Amino acid sequence: MRNDTQYATFEVRPTSHPRTLTERTAALAELSFGTVFSDHMAHAVWTPERGWHDHRVEAYGPISLDPAAAVLHYAQEIFEGLKAYRHADGSVWAFRPEANAARFAASARRLALPELSEAEFLHSIEVLVHTDVDWVPGVPGSSLYLRPFMFASEAFLGVRSARRVDYLVIASPSGPYFTTGFTPVSIWVAEDYHRSGPGGTGAAKCGGNYAASLLPQRQAYEQGCEQVCFLDAATNTRLEELGGMNMFVVTADGAVHTPALTGTILEGVTRSSILRLLAEAGREVHERPITLTEVKDGVTSGAISEMFACGTAAVITPIGHLKGNGFHLTVSGGDAGPVTSELHQALTDIQYGHREDTHGWMRRLV
Ligand code: COI
Repeated sequence: MRNDTQYATFEVRPTSHPRTLTERTAALAELSFGTVFSDHMAHAVWTPERGWHDHRVEAYGPISLDPAAAVLHYAQEIFEGLKAYRHADGSVWAFRPEANAARFAASARRLALPELSEAEFLHSIEVLVHTDVDWVPGVPGSSLYLRPFMFASEAFLGVRSARRVDYLVIASPSGPYFTTGFTPVSIWVAEDYHRSGPGGTGAAKCGGNYAASLLPQRQAYEQGCEQVCFLDAATNTRLEELGGMNMFVVTADGAVHTPALTGTILEGVTRSSILRLLAEAGREVHERPITLTEVKDGVTSGAISEMFACGTAAVITPIGHLKGNGFHLTVSGGDAGPVTSELHQALTDIQYGHREDTHGWMRRLV
């Protein structure tokens, strides 16, 4: 990735119609995930001639796109998700935004989009959060979810990488991703659809991966499950990840296992943070192939004691039920197990400033 120390600053052009205090208070009163947006957004444009230019923070609102914009036809698009947390003293912090910047650059390379430097990525977030700091909620479990994204805006129907690209960051004051909060969810294992295959875009955070997950995700809902679990496309036997998050398995001996990164799985920032916390706590951790058969047998015999999902949006969410064609298993008695609960506490304590950040993971924004 480019790592410029020189970068263009985002010029703040304040909105002429900010929400009133009453409107903002009402919007922040009942937070769910991804439904409310702050007053501003960061925006920059790229062309081959000018590189990244016209960096600004402007009024949040609809953007105008030519109907021939390449993203609408060929889905050349990537995104990120990270959160800004309000601490007790009023300061606002992001969790490992450098990791999101690096993954955004890696996704850009895979989708043949121009890279944004780490400095520009971080600066866009800092300026936006500074401008909309009043939109960072302070109630426990809440945060300002930040969604940087980049897409092909050139009006051209030929299939090649676009010569005009827009980068934006929007901000959404949010509560838990699952309306039930830290309560076990049910997972549906899709055996007829795959999220990604070898050489595909599985390791990139691009909209197309999520589009491909929507039909199996709908089947999961129809089966009474919150999330779909994908198996690997090559053998249809190994767990990969869920529709929008990674997954872990805890065995009765206290070891923790997660599917190894094979190029078809998204490398979650939460996933890597969990691996680090577990290793430091002296637990055995394994990144390895995990088969569905092994999981079914393990849950049935008790060799697998807990399962959980993790991601920026989902944080750490216990898995209480695993369902698929011809099976329905209850994990950990349908409750949150102790390892899952401890990890959730440890991670959120760091994010909300209740525990010392010994890793230098938190970056102060305001
Ligand atoms: C995230 O956890 O930030 C995600 O991107 C998952 C989902 C909401 C798309």
